[in-house]
Amino acid sequence: MWDAAGSEIHELGFHLRPKYWGQGLAVEAARAVIAFSFETIGAKSLSAGHHPKNEASKKVLEKLGFRYTHDEFFAALGMDIPYYLLTGPGGTLREYGAGTGFAGERGAGGQRRDGH
Ligand SMILES: CC(C)(COP(=O)(O)OP(=O)(O)OC[C@H]1O[C@@H](n2cnc3c(N)ncnc32)[C@H](O)[C@@H]1OP(=O)(O)O)[C@@H](O)C(=O)NCCC(=O)NCCS
Repeated sequence: MWDAAGSEIHELGFHLRPKYWGQGLAVEAARAVIAFSFETIGAKSLSAGHHPKNEASKKVLEKLGFRYTHDEFFAALGMDIPYYLLTGPGGTLREYGAGTGFAGERGAGGQRRDGH
């Protein structure tokens, strides 16, 4: 996916086996991936989404500094999911273009719900 300035937006996701939950591993691992994204491959921003009822995932994203941007329809789940963005040193939230979430990228009919 791409932002309005033409920079690629990489997506962050995480999935741990249950026996590893609750030890802070998702935040720790994600921080390493975020540092790699911004410092090594020069990403401007990262996106992420979560199931609306997944409080743990929401908490992880908020702890990492992601900011909610919009809800986007995710056809695989048949529902809107909240979408977030984390901007690196070279990116701004203003550059985030419409329809850049993974639902849209996968041709799954992703649509922003905030009129943008
Ligand atoms: C979501 C997931 C990655 C979280 O990983 P984790 O290593 O257990 O998360 P952490 O231990 O870093 O906990 C993150 C925060 O969420 C909180 N949290 C954990 N479960 C929670 C719950 N059910 N409700 C609310 N908060 C919760 C923790 O207390 C912690 O906050 P704190 O540090 O302020 O106490 C993990 O549960 C997972 O892999 N789940 C299955 C796959 C999945 O849902 N992936 C995300 C797809 S959107």
